Amino acid sequence: MTAEAGELPEALAAVLALLRCPHCAGPLGPGGGRVVRCPAGHAFDVARQGHLSLLAGRRAPAGDTAAMVAARERVLAGGHFEPLSAAVAAAVAAAAAEGGAGAIVEVGAGTAHHLARALERAPERRGIALDVSRPALRRAARAHPRAAAVGADAWRPLPLRDGVAGAVLCVFAPRHGPELHRVLAPGGVLVVATPEPGHLAELRGALGLLDVDPRKPQRLARRLGDGFAPRSSARVAWTMRLDREAQVALAAMGPSAFHVEAAELERRAAALPARLDVTAAVTVAVYDRR
Ligand SMILES: C[S@@+](CC[C@H](N)C(=O)[O-])C[C@H]1O[C@@H](n2cnc3c(N)ncnc32)[C@H](O)[C@@H]1O
Ligand SMILES: [Zn+2]
Repeated sequence: MTAEAGELPEALAAVLALLRCPHCAGPLGPGGGRVVRCPAGHAFDVARQGHLSLLAGRRAPAGDTAAMVAARERVLAGGHFEPLSAAVAAAVAAAAAEGGAGAIVEVGAGTAHHLARALERAPERRGIALDVSRPALRRAARAHPRAAAVGADAWRPLPLRDGVAGAVLCVFAPRHGPELHRVLAPGGVLVVATPEPGHLAELRGALGLLDVDPRKPQRLARRLGDGFAPRSSARVAWTMRLDREAQVALAAMGPSAFHVEAAELERRAAALPARLDVTAAVTVAVYDRR
């Protein structure tokens, strides 16, 4: 449903009661027109594209650039990450089948592609996509009719009330254990996807992509703290058949794009075969909130 000018988008209005003011942690409610307000008078505008920024302060990181987000959208639309989306959605659906309730929240959601797939399998759930990147939020706002897009810094207190999430997704995204624990409902699950060392191996050397940290799982476990009990961990591996445009887009959507110019990526990709089979290998770990 598209909102008329002067109205809150339906996906946002439906989850407003789950959000909180980033300044005073008070509840948020409609403030008239496309404004959201807390009882203390802090007011936030809904952007023309439908997302609501609840970033507090001026020092939030910028997140992914417009070029990175556009590249990500192309790669995801090409279906190259479907096995991962399906695994994440299945993990959420399995937890929901056990009677969990609450919204599905994706932290560092990017275009909210994985959140949208999870919502497709959970027709009664609402979704909230959190990201700091404005270009990402613009796309996340139209990812799914039941997904709201909210600007928030994952390293700061999240603008969500306690216990409102039945599931939180962190797919290649920052995760701050104590806040994820606070926003998850009792019985809720955290689904974390991290790349394995072999992920995109065929592109890494040729395009100069950053290496995957082999100690990532240990670091992740330490960072989550003891509010989470590991439930399952699965390796999801598949082969992506990529033409040259997709090879470049895959490099341009990731963290290496902060270090290598797009033109340089294209120059390097010219040395690769026009069609290349590339390994994707991701760990999907599910944690129960203790
Ligand atoms: C590698 S992308 C993953 C996007 C999405 N989960 C996916 O898999 O398609 C990481 C995302 O995290 C966002 N991000 C980076 N730092 C962040 C922060 N401090 N708070 C919230 N989002 C952040 C970026 O803007 C980007 O959209
Ligand atoms: Zn407030």
